[in-house]
Amino acid sequence: MQVTQEKIGQHRAIPLHLAIIMDGNGRWAQQRHMPRRLGHYKGAARVRSLIEYCTRAGVQCVTLFAFSTENWQRPEDEVQALMALFVEYLDKELPAMLANQVRFRALGALDRFSSEVRERIEKAQKQSANNHGLLLNVAVNYGGRWDILNAVQTWQDEHPQAPLRTLQPEALSDYLSTRGQPDLDLMIRTGGESRISNFLLWQAAYAELYFTDTLWPDFDEKALQAAFEWFATRDRRFGQVQKSAI
Ligand code: FPP
Repeated sequence: MQVTQEKIGQHRAIPLHLAIIMDGNGRWAQQRHMPRRLGHYKGAARVRSLIEYCTRAGVQCVTLFAFSTENWQRPEDEVQALMALFVEYLDKELPAMLANQVRFRALGALDRFSSEVRERIEKAQKQSANNHGLLLNVAVNYGGRWDILNAVQTWQDEHPQAPLRTLQPEALSDYLSTRGQPDLDLMIRTGGESRISNFLLWQAAYAELYFTDTLWPDFDEKALQAAFEWFATRDRRFGQVQKSAI
């Protein structure tokens, strides 16, 4: 999306596109002397009510970071538990998504997944494709660097005669996994870390970043409301200045 003078100072109380790094599941479980995977289960159970809250608030698009390109390096049993949880999440949540008009999309290099996981993803994407409510992106085997590199390579494949230096930022946006979606307005990271860990690197260029110590399984509607209230106070200038200050 092009940044225009009209966009500057635009006061939007609610983000159109919200992204969340759901961090702190492992610590939540460990604090309760439970296996880490139970923290992930508790974290997945958080998602539905927050999506419903976002729908009521008028958010158009939510992108969740469920599994990064780096997460394969976790212990094998945790990777397996996360895969099983993702499949279970899709099976369990698809009826609710369809009932609530939620459109589901998976972002990431999906070819690394088993055919079972890919089939579930395809089914959820296909069945929810014509829904006209909130767009839910779940990022799996996703990395921001992968997304940018993949966009450049796909653009080059489709424009074999064009010199790479003619590629413009707006054109590249059309080749990212989030093509056609609103720019990212707000990124929330729970769990006390203040970094974006290779999530939506290009898309986060002008996003507001909200970090909270709350562990993801404890991040409830009240916590989301607090993040939205903070977002509403931000003065977004997109690298420019208010007309009144010129
Ligand atoms: C980070 O917490 C969380 C993850 C790597 C996985 C996130 C996955 C879910 C919340 C469940 C799946 C969700 C969906 C929508 C299918 P961590 O393990 O790094 O926690 P820690 O920092 O406390 O160790």
